Amino acid sequence: MIILLIWVVVLIAVVALYLRQVYSTFSKNGIKHFRPIPLLGNVGKVLFRIDPMAYDFCNIYNSFPEERFVGRYEFLTETVVIRDVELIKKITVKDFEYFLDHRTFDTVSLFSRTLFLLKGQEWKDMRSTLSPAFTSSKIRLMVPFMVEVGDQMIVSLKQKIENSADDYIDIECKDLTTRYANDVIASCAFGLKVNSHTDENNQFYQMGKKATNFSFFQMIMFFLLTTKLSKFLKWGLLSDEVNDFFSTLFLNTMKDREIRNIVRPDMIHLLMQAKKGKLTHGDSNSNDEAAGFATVEESSIGRKKITREWTDRDLVAQAFLFFFAGFESVSSSMSFLLYELAVNPDVQERLVQEIREHDAKNGGKFDFNSIQTMTYLDMVVSEVLRLWPPALASDRICSKDYNLGKPNATAEKDFILRKGVTIMIPTVAIHRDPEFFPEPDKFNPDRFSEENKHKINVLSYMPFGLGPRNCIGSRFALCELKGGFWLRFRLRK
Ligand code: HEM
Repeated sequence: MIILLIWVVVLIAVVALYLRQVYSTFSKNGIKHFRPIPLLGNVGKVLFRIDPMAYDFCNIYNSFPEERFVGRYEFLTETVVIRDVELIKKITVKDFEYFLDHRTFDTVSLFSRTLFLLKGQEWKDMRSTLSPAFTSSKIRLMVPFMVEVGDQMIVSLKQKIENSADDYIDIECKDLTTRYANDVIASCAFGLKVNSHTDENNQFYQMGKKATNFSFFQMIMFFLLTTKLSKFLKWGLLSDEVNDFFSTLFLNTMKDREIRNIVRPDMIHLLMQAKKGKLTHGDSNSNDEAAGFATVEESSIGRKKITREWTDRDLVAQAFLFFFAGFESVSSSMSFLLYELAVNPDVQERLVQEIREHDAKNGGKFDFNSIQTMTYLDMVVSEVLRLWPPALASDRICSKDYNLGKPNATAEKDFILRKGVTIMIPTVAIHRDPEFFPEPDKFNPDRFSEENKHKINVLSYMPFGLGPRNCIGSRFALCELKGGFWLRFRLRK
């Protein structure tokens, strides 16, 4: 018994010493951080859903106002949260080659082959391959599909209102916007016509839900895979059922189009062209049109010509990523937008007015030009993406030791970020910093008006990320968001 007790004491002492050593990285280097909880580090409250992730990032950002960067332990792994926007620019743009990749959180499923998780040269080649699919000239041709999907939503809503006893219905807005986003991506990425408003439990919608709803176990695995353990863990975010569903759907559609010579200007067609090496930027290379203030530009990496061959699985993975990236981000932005319009009736009225004027001029049609000319709609969408950015933070892994400089104005030594350490960019906290956006919690689209928008520090506004690894789908997303809103207001006429 005594021997057992001695072993227990020794074990506890060894673990305690190990944890002390692990959790000393930041204090040894004069980097501010919250006190970590043994084994959980600083992520316990998020893991156990006590604090929302957005609160967590705002809290760490606001608690250390003098720091350029601060420390955050995720379990036993250190990550560095960058506060200084000039440093963020250096990391994401100028010294991009040190911070090329996102960290891994899937090593086996389709997800592991997506653009988001590809690394190094393979990522560069895939980005160049896909980039021409997201230019304004290609997205312009997809706007009619978005409008078609939105129309079916309006028809279904009108039907439900007509059938109701009181001439109105209660709507769960997130459910409505999720169904819209689902149907848009089914049409644009998989060439599939579904109507999730009438056929509520269609298989595409069910699989989408399965692919994007994360259990507690998945959250733990997600965090574990972002640590050094990813080298040893073989785990995928997607179940075999979801993998098989999307793969079969994509490959069968591709085969059917080949056999029947079908050309529809959507993502599946563009991916088929990419496979044959026929997808290029064409003439639009130098003059790609924006779809709003928030649009991000493609870098020279994305504009390079490449001839690499991709497997069918690689193409399926990208179509799946377009679905995954657009599903939650677009639907949550749309439901926040509905919320803001409900609590800000003056904004709603101004928007309706603009839509009426647009429709009178355009014969009730909505296209890519509408997206570019409806300035108030753009201000409203830009403000929603500021106040409620769907991507709360972005990450990058440091691929070579990198000098981050001093953590604050009085620090004596520079901090060298070691290869393999993750940095986090706390987008949501920067978007709500009063230094960049006065009265940050107020929903105020006028920040983005012609007279005011030049006052915005461009480095402080990043709903679609920054640098060559920014969101490839910003034009697509803005068209989808704006198209959805234009349609929704048809209910008010
Ligand atoms: C409101 C909607 C959306 C928001 C706010 C959003 C935001 C973002 C952000 C912040 C990133 C990471 C950027 C970085 O790390 O600097 C990203 C990456 C990405 N997004 Fe989006 N996104 C949206 C919709 C979409 C849509 C609709 C698609 C595709 C159809 C898409 C495709 C992608 C892809 C493929 C990446 C990975 C890019 C790479 O690693 O090279 N996104 N997005």
